[in-house]
Amino acid sequence: MNASDVMETLTIARWDGPVPADWQRRARASLEAGRVLFFPALAFRPAPDERPLLSPAVLDNTRKNISLDPSTGRLGGTSLAGSERERLAAMMTRFATAATGFLRALAPGYAAHLEPARTSFRPAEIDDRPTSPRQDDRRLHVDAFPTRPLQGRRILRLFSNIAPDGTARHWRVGEPFADFADAFVPRLRPALPGSATLLAALGLTKGRRSAYDEMMLRLHDAAKRDGDYQSRAPQVALELPAGSSWLVYTDLVLHAAVRGHTALEQTFYLPLSAMADPEHAPLRVLERLTGRALV
Ligand code: SIN
Ligand code: FE
Repeated sequence: MNASDVMETLTIARWDGPVPADWQRRARASLEAGRVLFFPALAFRPAPDERPLLSPAVLDNTRKNISLDPSTGRLGGTSLAGSERERLAAMMTRFATAATGFLRALAPGYAAHLEPARTSFRPAEIDDRPTSPRQDDRRLHVDAFPTRPLQGRRILRLFSNIAPDGTARHWRVGEPFADFADAFVPRLRPALPGSATLLAALGLTKGRRSAYDEMMLRLHDAAKRDGDYQSRAPQVALELPAGSSWLVYTDLVLHAAVRGHTALEQTFYLPLSAMADPEHAPLRVLERLTGRALV
């Protein structure tokens, strides 16, 4: 495997379009097939008065990311108060707006279906995070959310490296999802009967986990816990420079964030019905593999 197998480069420099129709088609097909779309010239530029915010000092002690929930406007993970807090929220909102506009221009077929989810700001050095294997995003994994069941909806994420000192963000990208699933699904422990109902009843999940959600969480954990897989699995190193952006279905693409600091990220949820080719989606891959409906 090499970088061109897992990544597609598009030299778009504007957040607000327009994007030529053949690029739109290429972008959507590449994304859905499990490649990282890389935009080397798509830079998110913090304003001069936002520069002091580009520091791990804005985190509260317990968190590695700051998150902004677009449905409530709630900003979490920062110890900032007053006007500095407002400035941080404004920068993240500006990024969320730019990211959403960009996606609408790049993939108009998604526009009507996009559900903007959390915006995150990741000022800390990845390497410094003390974590358990399950929380360690330096290990290859697919994304799945413990408290937010998606019922087969997709997780699409746009990242921008805004490191003021020019530090690149280093990722590794793994093998195709279907190969990973082939190897891991037969080894997964089944979910405890009734656990999804219980978690929802206790308010520990926002809605009920489907069999799909259970399986994706187990795949996330199993990959991270398997040291042998981490060292031996096919993987390609990507260097994502400061001033660049990239877009990826993180529920489909095995990824590890190894090194770097100061990135912004916008998550979108998308229904399967928005896919140009839903057969690539993790839900469809897992349903083929298990021979049963998972949502
Ligand atoms: C992840 O989704 O695993 C983390 C990506 C990043 O922070 O670069
Ligand atoms: Fe991840």
